[in-house]
Amino acid sequence: MLLEKLKKSNYTVVLTGAGMSTESGLPDFRSQSGGLWQKEDPSRIASTDALNRNVEKFFEFYRHRVLGLKDCKPHIGHEILAKWEKDGIIQSIITQNVDGFHTEAGSKNVAELHGTLQKVHCQSCGKQYRNDTYINKQYECECGGKLRPSVVLFGEMLPEDALFQAAEESEKAELFIVLGSSLSVTPANQFPLIAKQNGAYLVIVNMEPTELDIYADMTIHNRKIGSLLKELDHQLKE
Ligand code: APR
Repeated sequence: MLLEKLKKSNYTVVLTGAGMSTESGLPDFRSQSGGLWQKEDPSRIASTDALNRNVEKFFEFYRHRVLGLKDCKPHIGHEILAKWEKDGIIQSIITQNVDGFHTEAGSKNVAELHGTLQKVHCQSCGKQYRNDTYINKQYECECGGKLRPSVVLFGEMLPEDALFQAAEESEKAELFIVLGSSLSVTPANQFPLIAKQNGAYLVIVNMEPTELDIYADMTIHNRKIGSLLKELDHQLKE
């Protein structure tokens, strides 16, 4: 069924969440087993408030996540999506992930809604640094300002260019596939609905049920994304 849709669609957009990177070794946020937000309150650790009032914990939390990134890399699922873009099977990716793995795997048309953990920048002057500064526990800019990851923190606006790109792609989608997201965060969880309102066939692939399953034309639960993409890629070659 999904294979037929992939073959027939002239414009396929994929929205990915943290479930896309768990098979790379990165934890997601809301899984019962091991989700980051099972242990930390995001509003107290991943927010502008935390950066200003809980700064040591903020630095430590994000240094731990940057170190985690260094030990992990894109998995076969990221590589298949990059190949499918090259082969014209999918046209773009909208991602909530900040690991940069889609780009690292070779995907070109990627809207990073929540920014990237690959870079940090000065909260005062905006100067950008590589995220190695966090690994070396350098949290201060030359100007004396605080360095922060270039991710969207709770309470912040999303980057306009990524939002615009995601909306444009969602409106153009004939087939819209969600991979590994609980779809519990706005505005990222609006794009499947925008696509559906514009006539797209909506597929949600997620280990657990999501908040938008009722709107999906097809849901695939209890399947690991990596193995599903491998199976589909194999069938597409037949
Ligand atoms: N295959 C399929 N599904 C998976 C896999 C896998 N290998 N691993 C995890 N999942 C599913 C989980 O069941 C979970 O429902 O992926 C989903 C990930 O959901 P969340 O942890 O809520 O992550 P996400 O939807 O990306 O969160 C959105 O919330 O905190 C913010 O900024 C953060 O970008 C994040 C946003």
